[in-house]
Amino acid sequence: MLKAVILIGGPQKGTRFRPLSLDIPKPLFPVAGVPLIQHHIEACVAIEELKEILLIGFYPAALIQQFIVDLQHRYNVTIKYLQEFTALGTAGGLYHFRDQIRYGNPDAFFVMNGDVCADFPLEDLYKFHKSLTNPLVTIMGTEATRQQSLHYGCMVTNKTTQEVTHYVEKPSSYVSTLINCGIYVFSLDIFNTIGDVFTAKQQDCYRNGNSNREAGYIQLEQEILAPMAGTGKLFALQVTKWWSQLKTAGSAIYANRHYLELYRTKHPERLRQPNTSGEDCTIYPDVHIDPTAQIHHSAVIGPNVSIGSGVVIGPGVRIRESIILSDAVINDRSLILHSIIGRSSRIGTWARVEGTPSDPDPNKPFAKMENPTLFNNDGRLNPSITILGCSVSVPSETILLNSIVLPNKELSRSIKNEIIL
Ligand code: GDD
Ligand code: GTP
Repeated sequence: MLKAVILIGGPQKGTRFRPLSLDIPKPLFPVAGVPLIQHHIEACVAIEELKEILLIGFYPAALIQQFIVDLQHRYNVTIKYLQEFTALGTAGGLYHFRDQIRYGNPDAFFVMNGDVCADFPLEDLYKFHKSLTNPLVTIMGTEATRQQSLHYGCMVTNKTTQEVTHYVEKPSSYVSTLINCGIYVFSLDIFNTIGDVFTAKQQDCYRNGNSNREAGYIQLEQEILAPMAGTGKLFALQVTKWWSQLKTAGSAIYANRHYLELYRTKHPERLRQPNTSGEDCTIYPDVHIDPTAQIHHSAVIGPNVSIGSGVVIGPGVRIRESIILSDAVINDRSLILHSIIGRSSRIGTWARVEGTPSDPDPNKPFAKMENPTLFNNDGRLNPSITILGCSVSVPSETILLNSIVLPNKELSRSIKNEIIL
């Protein structure tokens, strides 16, 4: 039997994802029409031996519970949310809930960062882990560019055994282009290793007169994986399938495109097929439209568009490379490009809402998303995806370019490269 743990973080995390995460916890933000971590869960339930999925985070349970109830009906797998009393770090939560994870004596368990997107190769990862002698951890690795590798956990491996001989988390200078994808297989014995770190920290706290609580905060990457490198217990499987982090709104549009593409084989029923009869809107694949959305037949949608429940799209509207969240209304002849339109926002007629994509550089092999900061060194906003928070109203005949609008704003003019607070 196998289990999976998804680390979902909490309200103080995901700051680069604001204002989208003000309204909905980032792990539940819809990408390709389903909450971000539902993609993880669907990858897990596809593995027959996997019987339980534990979400670990520090969001109030009330924010996560409904999602679990909805999914629980669909799958023959137990899904539970375990709430940390405070942020315990990427290994502290695993250790705190070790009894829950060990319960039923699983052969191994997956750990997945909730903020990554991928064509998850979980079967391959487990098969590889099983083929090793006494492994503690197998890390899913992928290749990045030299410069981008500095933003990730970097691994040096023995090319014949795939053992990780050196691990540095977010190094300040180049270590390796093989990076940690935040997807792992753990053997149950890992709890002895984390336990040793916990006990040592507890003794330190006691000696220094600090609160015992600090001992509970354990970083998987720095405190467990880095010291384990070179001991014969840590391995990495390099994969070439699509993988990306989801840190910024720009990366959500990028992930949306890839998940829609995966639907062609895995969930064709989630894609709106082009229809030439003239009764339906014009579709440039790939597009996901919730069945409750009302789209005028003269609208033109796609490629890479997801439209949520209850959305209303008027005549002559053009949408491309965008995510439209539930209950938004887009009126006649407006144009939406490289943007995310928040829940219940309203766009008037003949408006133009446009952002700048920040896709990986197609000319650089292995390039990942840049995930730039909001501002550049001159203090100016970096051009990026245009984001409207929930319940924003955009008047007719205005232009919004590369801007971010916080929830509940009523705009009265065109804006360019601005944050409207
Ligand atoms: N439950 C819980 N508690 N989850 C947490 C906590 C915590 O205290 N802190 C972070 N997480 C979750 C986040 O929600 C996220 O899904 C994941 O753990 C990792 O988050 P970060 O701490 O922000 O790390 P990172 O994304 O910058 O880097 C990690 O992932 C990269 C791949 O995406 C590292 O593992 C890197 O080595 C790796 O390359
Ligand atoms: P390409 O992107 O290279 O095709 O050039 P373009 O000038 O047509 O692209 P642009 O990015 O300006 O617009 C993308 C799509 O939206 C095109 O299909 C346009 O026909 C359409 N479009 C552009 N402006 C408007 C507008 O103001 N209203 C509506 N409804 N559609 C528009």
